[in-house]
Amino acid sequence: MNSFVYDIPVKVYFGENQLGHLGQELRKFGRRVLLTYGGGSIKRNGLYDRVIEELRGAEMEVFELSGIEPNPRIESVRKGAEMCKEHGIDVLLAVGGGSTIDATKFMAAGACVDHDPWEFFGAGAKPIERALPIVTILTLSATGSEMDAGGVISNLATQDKLGRMAPAMLPKVSFLDPTLTYSVSAYQTACGAADIMSHIMEVYFNTNKDLFMLDSVMESLLKTVVKFAPVAVAEPENYEARANLMWASSWAINGFINGGRKKAWSCHPMEHELSAVYDITHGLGLAILTPRWMEYCLDESNVDRYVSFGVNVFGIDSKLEPMAIARESIKRLSEFFFSTLGLKSTFTEVGIKREDFAQMARKACRYGDIKGFKTLTPEDVERIYEMCL
Ligand code: NZQ
Ligand code: ZN
Repeated sequence: MNSFVYDIPVKVYFGENQLGHLGQELRKFGRRVLLTYGGGSIKRNGLYDRVIEELRGAEMEVFELSGIEPNPRIESVRKGAEMCKEHGIDVLLAVGGGSTIDATKFMAAGACVDHDPWEFFGAGAKPIERALPIVTILTLSATGSEMDAGGVISNLATQDKLGRMAPAMLPKVSFLDPTLTYSVSAYQTACGAADIMSHIMEVYFNTNKDLFMLDSVMESLLKTVVKFAPVAVAEPENYEARANLMWASSWAINGFINGGRKKAWSCHPMEHELSAVYDITHGLGLAILTPRWMEYCLDESNVDRYVSFGVNVFGIDSKLEPMAIARESIKRLSEFFFSTLGLKSTFTEVGIKREDFAQMARKACRYGDIKGFKTLTPEDVERIYEMCL
């Protein structure tokens, strides 16, 4: 087991009726707030009015940036960073899903530098040493952006979607009220579930020597999603289901489960290329890729991991042959994504074409081969894409 540092300093208000603390938390950072949100879901479900009421009550001076896109664009980040500078913003309040929160993180960092925020990304990226304080109100359980230091931004001009992490961008405070996710569609709920599971599986499928304790936590988190995502799809206002998904989403990626594991993630770099070129929903791309990636990587040397996954997450009979359990675990995961949650199961159905595979595979490996559960070269990535057709 590797040594590691545990440091997750995000203050979380979890549960119903916590928004009453919003004003007092924001006022710790100043009076001028940039409120950021997406395409209007918060106006339709009434959250916008509640937030404005809290901000007025705290006598905040409010500036607004709306229209942050799913797969958020660098143009929105630029606009937000400029607004922060122009209006002397003290604190940013992101109200939305991962896209709004991610974009807001880079606005907060962009406000502290003179260069274009796109220079935070890619080879030779500029450092992120400072960012204005960020507070979030989460409205979709998926990415964990509310409790992590990362974000992913798209640049349509270059067909790039690139991620970056920096402790300075960790939210100071996040409000996690499961009732705010009641209005999330069945489709986005399913995509969110796939994303949460992928964040865990990227760590769980690992060849480092591991802590049994963390493996057990990961299996519990995965079981939580398997149990409650279908409930949330069928009964959008089921508090227990929404609450379990919400807290699982934060703990899937806030760093706790890593426990010093060093291997690279595999499905995420492959998926970000799909979103970069086709603008598809991140969780959908992951759902299509993950079972194929599992199938591609499976061999005698790593079959034990699949066995633990299959037996402890999906309850497959442990007395079966290891390879049979492994294959069954892939089948069960596929059934969960494509039958139970009703997600589309192939690239063909979502319009992703073979002609782009070579370029996407090359970009997925832009920093070198993906040294994950199994090392993947661009040729491997292309083969996995082929399996998704
Ligand atoms: O824009 P609005 O109108 O708000 O609608 C959004 C959007 O259309 C809607 N939505 C959100 N909350 C809702 C709601 N609709 C009804 N009721 C609500 N309460 O859902 C749609 C998708 O929102 P989005 O924020 O794009 O979804 P998600 O949270 O899945 O975020 C995806 C982005 O996060 C990145 C992804 O790559 C993608 O760009 N990721 C960020 C990560 C991180 N920060 O650590 C890690 C992840 O692996 C991921 O890469
Ligand atoms: Zn993800």
